[in-house]
Amino acid sequence: MRVIVGITGGIAAYKAPQLVRLLKKQGHEVQCVATRHALEFVTPLTLETVSGNRLYSELFAPVNDHSTEHIALKDWGDIMVVAPATANCIGKLASGIADDALSTLLLAFSHKPLYLAPAMNTDMWEHPAVQQNLATLKARGVNIIAPAEGELACGATGAGRMAEPEDIASAIRNEKLGIRNLADESNNSSFLIPNSSLSKVLVTAGPTYEKIDSVRFIGNYSSGKMGFALAEALAAEGYGVELVTGPTACRAEHPNIHRTDVESAREMYEAATRLFPTCCAAILSAAVADYRPDHTADHKLKKQGDEGMTLTLVQNPDILATLGTMKQEGQRLVGFALETDDEEVNARRKLEKKNLDYIVLNSLRDKGAGFGVDTNRVTIIGRDGSRTETPLLSKADVAREIVRRCLQ
Ligand code: CTP
Repeated sequence: MRVIVGITGGIAAYKAPQLVRLLKKQGHEVQCVATRHALEFVTPLTLETVSGNRLYSELFAPVNDHSTEHIALKDWGDIMVVAPATANCIGKLASGIADDALSTLLLAFSHKPLYLAPAMNTDMWEHPAVQQNLATLKARGVNIIAPAEGELACGATGAGRMAEPEDIASAIRNEKLGIRNLADESNNSSFLIPNSSLSKVLVTAGPTYEKIDSVRFIGNYSSGKMGFALAEALAAEGYGVELVTGPTACRAEHPNIHRTDVESAREMYEAATRLFPTCCAAILSAAVADYRPDHTADHKLKKQGDEGMTLTLVQNPDILATLGTMKQEGQRLVGFALETDDEEVNARRKLEKKNLDYIVLNSLRDKGAGFGVDTNRVTIIGRDGSRTETPLLSKADVAREIVRRCLQ
């Protein structure tokens, strides 16, 4: 998306370059617009360097060749976020005052998503005038990202500290995914809650083990490496990760990753269906056993002699297909496919049948791809008609590509 970042004159303006950097990392184009007072806290050079675009701050500056005056800019932007938004900025917007570059642009930018991240002293935040202005803006559809409680620059402690840049970037990402996370939808004065659980992604990884008896199981060669690489790539992008994994030697290092260990397909099904409603997306990379023995002996089975032995298998629940039926608007669902014949035709069929947004087709033609190895080559096919084929890459790089293509 094209994101306009407005910056007003509060101490939290020093965090604006970090927000711009995060938005760029999410793949957005960014244009900064700052008030004169904001430039007391952060320099034009910093904002232009991190955004890669000229700063817009003077209403009556000479128009340059790529015309950044406010009307051109409101047409350019898909979404706008003001961080920090001072009490003054909030008051002016609520009253329709346009007396500088940013406030003029804010009035013009009335038909597109707008986010404000207020930052001010607690007494100012709690002032009835400010709260009334916020309620007015909310009623007009402006999204307010609630400030945090904590120590403020003025030495006081309380509400008013600007939400962290990671949380603001996450709100923008949720907007792209069509997710709104209000404290209480029915309460008109509720604000967007930073660090929302809706920025979590569910990942399944590894094999499943289906017990035959107390010492034997049916399993497969999946190492879990692809799923763990996905979890790490997502965590590095600022997502919370619910990682549900079958038996594996892999380790998850990032603190944003919450790991649930399971053994069988039915345990994975239980964990995945419980966690999916709390997540904005799910990527199912686990090699789930399609069948399990109809009966598990609680002791070690003895040899049957020359007659041989027959195991009767029953079908496991299809986790991916179930999540496809549970999927709500705004949630993304990504599955994997391992095909031997008519690879793409079958993958596209699976995409439709299981109500997926993307399917990642594993190549079986490469020696370096598939189970156990550290590299992979995939084709990412989207419901939107997109198709991306990666070269043979490390699983970490493939994971980053999947996150970039499927979630951003
Ligand atoms: N999958 C799942 N639950 C199952 C079986 C598979 O969630 N019981 C998921 C896998 O994690 C993967 C996708 O489904 O994301 C594709 O699995 P695959 O075995 O290729 O396809 P199936 O749907 O099992 O179809 P088939 O075996 O007939 O090709």
